[in-house]
Amino acid sequence: MKRTLDRAPFFLIAVLFLLLSTSADAFAQTKSKALPRVNRQSAAQGAPASQLKDPAVERKIEALLKQMTLDEKIGQMNQFSFGAPTGPGTSRSEYGEMIAAGKLGSVFNLTGAKETNQLQRAAMTKSRLKIPIIFGLDVIHGYRTTFPIPLALAATWNPELVQQTASAAAHEAAAEGVRWTFSPMIDISRDARWGRIIEGAGEDPFLGSAMARAYVMGYQGARLSDPGSIAACAKHFVGYGAAEAGREYNTTQIPERLLREVYLAPFNAAVNAGAATLMSAFNDLNDVPASANPFTIKQILKKEWGFRGFVVSDWTSIKEVIAHGIANDGPTAARKAVLAGVDMDMEGELYISTLAAQVKSGAVPVSVIDDAVRRILRVKFALGLFDNPYANEKVLPANLDAAHVDLARTAAEQSFVLLKNEKGVLPLSAAAKTIAVIGPLADDADAMLGAWGGKGDAKNVITLQASLQDFADKHHMRLLHEKGTEIRGGTDAGIPAAVNAARQADVVLLAVGESAGDMTGEAASRTVIDLPGLQTKLLEAVAAAGKPTVLIVFSGRPLTLTPVVDKVNAVVQAWHPGIQAGPALWRVLSGQANFSGKLTVSMPRAVGQLPLYYNALNTGRPHLKVDLTHPPTNGDEKYVSRYIDELNAPLFPFGYGLSYTKFDYSRVSISAKSLSSESLNADSQSLKVSVDVKNTGERDGVEVAELYLGERGTSISRPVRELKGFQRVALKAGESKQVEFTVGKEQLRFWNIDMRQIVEPGIVTVWVGPDSQTENSAEFSIGK
Ligand code: NOJ
Repeated sequence: MKRTLDRAPFFLIAVLFLLLSTSADAFAQTKSKALPRVNRQSAAQGAPASQLKDPAVERKIEALLKQMTLDEKIGQMNQFSFGAPTGPGTSRSEYGEMIAAGKLGSVFNLTGAKETNQLQRAAMTKSRLKIPIIFGLDVIHGYRTTFPIPLALAATWNPELVQQTASAAAHEAAAEGVRWTFSPMIDISRDARWGRIIEGAGEDPFLGSAMARAYVMGYQGARLSDPGSIAACAKHFVGYGAAEAGREYNTTQIPERLLREVYLAPFNAAVNAGAATLMSAFNDLNDVPASANPFTIKQILKKEWGFRGFVVSDWTSIKEVIAHGIANDGPTAARKAVLAGVDMDMEGELYISTLAAQVKSGAVPVSVIDDAVRRILRVKFALGLFDNPYANEKVLPANLDAAHVDLARTAAEQSFVLLKNEKGVLPLSAAAKTIAVIGPLADDADAMLGAWGGKGDAKNVITLQASLQDFADKHHMRLLHEKGTEIRGGTDAGIPAAVNAARQADVVLLAVGESAGDMTGEAASRTVIDLPGLQTKLLEAVAAAGKPTVLIVFSGRPLTLTPVVDKVNAVVQAWHPGIQAGPALWRVLSGQANFSGKLTVSMPRAVGQLPLYYNALNTGRPHLKVDLTHPPTNGDEKYVSRYIDELNAPLFPFGYGLSYTKFDYSRVSISAKSLSSESLNADSQSLKVSVDVKNTGERDGVEVAELYLGERGTSISRPVRELKGFQRVALKAGESKQVEFTVGKEQLRFWNIDMRQIVEPGIVTVWVGPDSQTENSAEFSIGK
């Protein structure tokens, strides 16, 4: 496609824009169909959890366990980082010796076939029992090919695509000896102050569960022992995303029902999809640190859910239970963690240094150690490490896999969310002969890599500026570029030049937002989440030039755009989109591709609204239509659940996103008006919900149709509505399709007043529409 454009004289571009814009989705689909080496296993196929249940393997584990000394067992439970710390520092060099002595079961932050093989050789040739090392790494949104950040990937509402990105990352990582990723991060977060909101799927447990499954299936493939498969690690178990006030590592208080309905749901999905490992979290949960929490790990995860893989702590999170206040020394911390069910100690050195003595004294039963070791060996066997411990040392191509690069572009394209498009300023008019690209994010390759860029290299990033320059050079278009100011700090010295560029332009693209590593991700909570530095000042000055202005926001969280959104004509939420940032953006801005992404977090108007989420309870005095033009004039306006200085509603709601075309929904139709809770609980009854979705515009497009349910009259208060289904529907201009959902036990049950997960009688509203504020609804009742 790009080559076609290269040869086209400029006067043909207008025609080309039109042609391309109508075939955009067909193009995107052809691209993704061509992807090789992608595990396309579906949820229904092959009961992945059974990979950790092979009787033949269990016999091998028992035989091995019998030969192991206590020290060798505890060695398996010990994990060290190989330099490159992602937490408080480590400066070790004795890895080889420790492995040979059977004192280390896992190493992370080491990559490269030769490098990992070297340590593996110590395990396989020098250690007494020749138990292979499992090498781990944070492969979060790609390995060498950096995909959009997970929050952006979630905005595609396309689990199949996310599964493909995870599969691509798995193949790349495995080729360099890494057979275990500390991903997916599936913490639900309702608070955009928390920097790690970038790593998850947003605020919703249903969507979060779909994404959790997608990552697990993508990483682990059809069989964990396949050479391109790596073990997943669902993290952080559990509740980390509810950090009070959005402050990193902060305490969480989550009542059991909320825990089960919201925060545990994606973990349950990951475990059911076969996730081989989980990571225990840093936070204190209901007064018990998550890394020494028997209720969540031993009771729920291992007993109720039957999880057979192993749990690794987070970085020194076992040691940190001392700071949390439930242990006064290392041995107690280690004992509480291991008894709670944490099987492997990441970086803490407490298992290796204190458990043997505690087993000997009887403080820790050896059966607890055996259980942990069994789990670790089980995953090592499932990965095929005993038979194939070494990575292939063949020389890897210097260039990225072209199919993975295409996938990165498709993923980025689908992750962009069009929030506003006034007077059709987008797609860009082919008549625009001068484009001004302004802002500190237009050419910032590092920021495009996001906070967990893996082995991503800024050299492989094509920025927006680079894409536009390339296009402009070839087509004699004039491109003006001014940075204007820095992302943070900086001065306003560059603003006059930026305004000058804007004045000369037919259209202005303003690329603003957050940097990646220092402003988003771990240890990057913010109390103010507007455009940092002098970017708002830059925006105001540039917008005052009066040219059609498109705001492109690169960020790892929803920002409070309230003060700026009215000053520009269009707003694109672009996240941190990965190596193909520029080409993907250019395709949607120019209309070669259509927007289809939708928000998976409510975008706050003001930071004071946080935590903010659509699936909230109603309150006894609900008030959504607050009028801020005057102070409350009577009791009905005043004594309701509201703020006196801001609306309750988000600036843009969960599920929201525009397209270049328009979609009409027919009224919701349901196949029954009343159901019985008894039949629903027996899973012998369900109903069909359907709507016709019509593309009434002139371009092809993809609409995400969203199904929400809300029940009243139940034993406990239920959220006003909850997402219970979604479908991406590709519609040609003028085309109409029926979209159907099934609603039954799975969608209607909840943890009731007796803490039983059942369907209760009540009145249910069903909504189907384009976002979480849709009013397109029908109602049915559930009787006895
Ligand atoms: C700490 C982070 O919380 C966790 O997500 C990560 O996997 C580990 N460090 C290892 O890097």
